[in-house]
Amino acid sequence: MSADRDPPPRARMQALADELNRHARLYYLEDAPEISDADYDRLFRELQALENTHPEATPSDSPSRRVGAPPADGFSEVEHRLPMLSLDNAMDADEIRAFDERVRRMLEREAPLAYVIEPKLDGAGVELVYQEGELAVCATRGDGRVGEDVTANLRRCHSIPLRLQGDSAARVSVRGEVVLPIARFERLNEDRLERDLEAFANPRNAAAGALRQLHDIDLARLRALEFRAYAVREGLPGGLEGQSDVLRLLADWGFRVSEDHHLCPDVEAVIEKHEALLALRNQLPVEIDGSVVKVESLALQAELGELSRSPRWAIAYKFPPSQETTVVRAIEVQVGRTGALTPVAKLEAVQVGGVTVQNASLHNQDEVERKDVRVGDTVVVQRAGDVIPQVVKVVTSQRPSRTRRFRLPKRCPVCRSTVVRLEDEAVTRCPNLDCPAQLKNNLRHLASRSAFDIEGLGEKLVEQLVEEQLVARLSDVFALERESLEGLERMGEKSASNLLAGLERSRATTLARFLIALGIRHVGETVAQQLARHFGDLDPLLAADQESLEAVEGIGPTIAESVARFFADTRNRAEVERLRELGVRWEKSAPAPPRGEGPLGGKTFVLTGTLVDLPRSRAKQRIEALGGVVTSAVSKKTDYLVAGAEAGTKLEKARKLGVEILDQAALTELLGD
Ligand code: IVH
Repeated sequence: MSADRDPPPRARMQALADELNRHARLYYLEDAPEISDADYDRLFRELQALENTHPEATPSDSPSRRVGAPPADGFSEVEHRLPMLSLDNAMDADEIRAFDERVRRMLEREAPLAYVIEPKLDGAGVELVYQEGELAVCATRGDGRVGEDVTANLRRCHSIPLRLQGDSAARVSVRGEVVLPIARFERLNEDRLERDLEAFANPRNAAAGALRQLHDIDLARLRALEFRAYAVREGLPGGLEGQSDVLRLLADWGFRVSEDHHLCPDVEAVIEKHEALLALRNQLPVEIDGSVVKVESLALQAELGELSRSPRWAIAYKFPPSQETTVVRAIEVQVGRTGALTPVAKLEAVQVGGVTVQNASLHNQDEVERKDVRVGDTVVVQRAGDVIPQVVKVVTSQRPSRTRRFRLPKRCPVCRSTVVRLEDEAVTRCPNLDCPAQLKNNLRHLASRSAFDIEGLGEKLVEQLVEEQLVARLSDVFALERESLEGLERMGEKSASNLLAGLERSRATTLARFLIALGIRHVGETVAQQLARHFGDLDPLLAADQESLEAVEGIGPTIAESVARFFADTRNRAEVERLRELGVRWEKSAPAPPRGEGPLGGKTFVLTGTLVDLPRSRAKQRIEALGGVVTSAVSKKTDYLVAGAEAGTKLEKARKLGVEILDQAALTELLGD
């Protein structure tokens, strides 16, 4: 590192990290954001710029440190110092009363016993180990004794503090559940269906999959994960009396704790709270499949002890199963943003797990055919992962005579255009770009958080703008004028001003957000970021042909074709130009040099172990900026292995293959930093 640089502005950097962490906490833990995503991005970019010039001063809890290289050759194992137990189940109130009696008998106690009742989160159980207050290891439950090291993935989860707030023991282990909030799960599945990927059956599967994802990291999915803490297994400070104190401590340390937990004086109060939770179930942001009942007193917990599989002091109190049968009244067809036609079963209303279900998505023609769902059929429905209603199967024995196979219509139900289905796609689409259904959905998408994030442009207004033909193509939204807005029904001066101000703020955006907003098929957050990083500005991207698009990291033929086709369309080009004319803008950045060029052109690197003062992501960025390529596995083709502290098997393999090994100093020198 050169000696003639200014000293790092450490105080400013830590202040930025603190500020960003505070906003992340408000956003992810308290659902109460104070600033817009765009403002968050601005602060983040300021910190990143400082970190780029002064990597050695990167705060240990900087949000940039959440992003690291994922483990490459499979997950290493982590032995839990204390086993991660499972829970015994109770299916109804009588079984809970029996549990209470058992516990009191063991404690030789007549008096009622106090319990804490918590939601039983339906996700993946994990353990987090903190050393000297800093997050060191995240592990899955595994078989309870040995789990998998998922630290790299979970560092991206913003509800996991990288550093504990306040005092803590030298070693602390915290247990809790990684869940995928239902709203994010639904969005994720919509996105997957649009990209012709199979939908996840339920939030638990989606969460567990994201946690254990090795390659081709799906950033959006990892970011959407949420951690909720419920136990401290090591490093519990003295002086705490009950589970309620433990939950308070966890919140003080900076964890998200389920809000709906209650201290109950006796078992009858537990049953009451459980019923209340069941009634609340469909209003909760995360999936739960029951409650967990725990003896409040930590001293009594210790006295009761545990069996090999489960503790004696806690039990899972399950909700009744949530599958029911009902009748399909009709099958309707909805038109999505990309014109995709989705058949939706309209059901005779039925209570499933405490929720009234009336609609169920049938996804696409193939799904309907596979399940052969027909109007008039009796079907088994379930709330998948207990929320999204799904048709599980048809009860064929109860099929009335003279039913007909369902087929998607030949014409778009909204604009009557002839629909198309490409040979290798599951989806049938309305090809009319002016179809009002598509326009509305595209407008919603354009205004959404990850795109232009337009404040003041909500659902109702989208409907109105399209219906009243104030917006006939997307760019029209940035040409809206006060006068025409104020002419809309229920639109006051204030809402018009709000929208105009929101539009003004959104005009200054990033290239990635702009690309997301265009609604190009297969271009979600991750792809948009790759494109933006690679091309630096829009014009080089517009000039790129399919081949140069395929050269972008992480972009295969399908995405490249979709992008090339989008920009080849003169109407889309005109829209892009008009958006720019209407003041939409972003900062240019230097494009990454193409593979094979630059000072490190064509050199292949593998990074392993911990690099002091240089997060792996930063090392990767720097290498790529100079034209090098970073891969995950060591082979004969590897030019350099960069070995940090505690490098393991990759280092051995590199030695065996005679690959040149760099320590951090050697890497810094090579990078010319
Ligand atoms: S306490 C000693 N509390 O349910 C057992 N577990 O079926 C400690 N779970 O493995 C578990 N919500 O992954 C506890 N509020 C909660 C929970 C919870 C979900 C999971 C956990 C556990 C499984 C047992």
